[in-house]
Amino acid sequence: MCGIVGVVGDPDALNILVSGLKKLEYRGYDSAGVYVTGENQSDYLVKAQGKIANLEKKITDDVHGTTGIGHTRWATHGEPSVDNAHPHFSNDHRFYLVHNGVIDNFNELKQRYLADIDFKSETDTEVVVQLVSKFANEGLDTKEAFKKSLSLLNNSSYAFLLMDQKDPNTIYVAKNKSPMLIGLGDGFNVICSDALAMLQRTNRFMEIHDGEMATISAKDVKIEDKDGNQITREPFEVDVDAADINKGAYPYYMLKEIDEQPAVIHRIQSAYLNKNEVQLNSNLMDKLTNASRIYIVGAGTSYHAGLVGKHLFEKIAQIPTEVVVSSEFAYDDPLIEQDAFFIFLSQSGETADSRQVLVRVNDEWKKPSLTITNVANSTLAREAEFSVTLEAGPEIAVASTKAYTAQIALEAIIATAIGRTKNFEMAQNLDIDLELSKVANAMQAVVDEKGRIEQVAVDNLSDTRNAFYIGRGLDYFVALEASLKLKEISYIQAEGFASGELKHGTIALIEKGTPVLGIITQPQTADNTRSNLQETKARGANVITIVSESLAQTEDTLIIPDVNPDFAPLVSVVVGQLMAYYATLQRGYNVDQPRNLAKSVTVE
Ligand code: F6R
Repeated sequence: MCGIVGVVGDPDALNILVSGLKKLEYRGYDSAGVYVTGENQSDYLVKAQGKIANLEKKITDDVHGTTGIGHTRWATHGEPSVDNAHPHFSNDHRFYLVHNGVIDNFNELKQRYLADIDFKSETDTEVVVQLVSKFANEGLDTKEAFKKSLSLLNNSSYAFLLMDQKDPNTIYVAKNKSPMLIGLGDGFNVICSDALAMLQRTNRFMEIHDGEMATISAKDVKIEDKDGNQITREPFEVDVDAADINKGAYPYYMLKEIDEQPAVIHRIQSAYLNKNEVQLNSNLMDKLTNASRIYIVGAGTSYHAGLVGKHLFEKIAQIPTEVVVSSEFAYDDPLIEQDAFFIFLSQSGETADSRQVLVRVNDEWKKPSLTITNVANSTLAREAEFSVTLEAGPEIAVASTKAYTAQIALEAIIATAIGRTKNFEMAQNLDIDLELSKVANAMQAVVDEKGRIEQVAVDNLSDTRNAFYIGRGLDYFVALEASLKLKEISYIQAEGFASGELKHGTIALIEKGTPVLGIITQPQTADNTRSNLQETKARGANVITIVSESLAQTEDTLIIPDVNPDFAPLVSVVVGQLMAYYATLQRGYNVDQPRNLAKSVTVE
């Protein structure tokens, strides 16, 4: 949420900033801006409302420099506009600042320190750059003025890049709760919210931790803690193939990522299974096996993957499991069992709501935790006791697809490992490697049939105002996810419902022609769901069915290959993803960048 880039000491700084911002556009696309400066202290600020393409149009040939900062915004305080776009600047145009996060006490700071300042924007960020300027005018050097400003922000969330027009060779960096990495180059250095933005320039990165600040020049990176102690930190290498972050021949990332799912399942098998044997850290396995209750924490799609995980942990590992929405649980007063174990599901590993729960797990409840994430060095991966990666490759479309299926596949593997350690018959007999291979084949069959799914989407979802996905048990959990996919990118008001629950109120919304998509993959509830579909049909609904082959009847719309019903969500959801994709294309919207959203939600 909000993307930040910075470059020090490279004549190609402007291009590096703009191409970095394009890679970060998934983090927000309400507005964008860059500030660059060069040797003779000529400097340029360019800002535009909307996407990076609008910014590019405003960058004229004379804009150049060797050092600069850039930002792509997901609006929190102040509407999307040029004035509210970053970089923000002090009234004397000496200091320029980009920010990701939220300054909780910005109003208080404004009144207390900056009552006489004429603010140019409605943002919380501008307060910080005006504070730096105030303290510099009172005699502090830039670094001390920045540090003094940071000390006033309480525990607000921020990743900042600050530049002083009088010193075009330095960028000041500070971080608290928002992601930020320093990339190390040969004769230049870069800074970014996500390594993806700078992978074309370097694959060597250094972390900066909460509460720290750094001073970065072309040849040097100095990190210090709150008390001014110098920190020495080893860099790490990010191992991502640059081809993974390009669309290739695909029109949208989302379609590429949907198509990649069978390969992702195979990568997970190679990473975590040796034939049928599960390979996971033995300390992690000890703690999981001794857990009397598992809490799965997630938001959005990751929460939905957690719902399927609950079924798997309870059935295969026989451990009572609760799934919680992180933004709610972060401020609840739950009774936590002595032997509780927390599993965090997060594609990005940066979701602020989930991190807030992890802070409580570590500081207050002091319980063991595991983060399952797609980003190895992300905040949630670093701060949990254990972490495992999804092996899904970068997920760039805002709507999550392959991360959801990868999360479920890993939950299945972990549940099997626990069940086997506990000697449970079902887990002993489960050939998880074979089951996942069947899943990958079934997914492939679904993506190979996308023409048929496109036709169903075009015929039924092109101009509807609303739609319902319904199902029971695991099918209900997929209904929640499929409806989230549909609503977030096509803007159809789509809801997922437990099919039996519909008649207790929601059925009042069914009108002539309302699309009701029934998911039927669970033998024990197939007939019940069919009855519930009939109830909607009797009230005029346009019923569409997505059914496993062995449960199919002649009138069904889309038939998907059979897999073990416990793993059917991994296959049926692919239909939901493709329905959402094609409905959105048909309605003429940008599939990868739906309005109002950002991929990595780093504010609470
Ligand atoms: C929906 C979607 C979101 C995310 C949610 C959590 O398609 O992507 O609902 O699942 O914002 O994000 P992560 O998984 O990064 O914690």
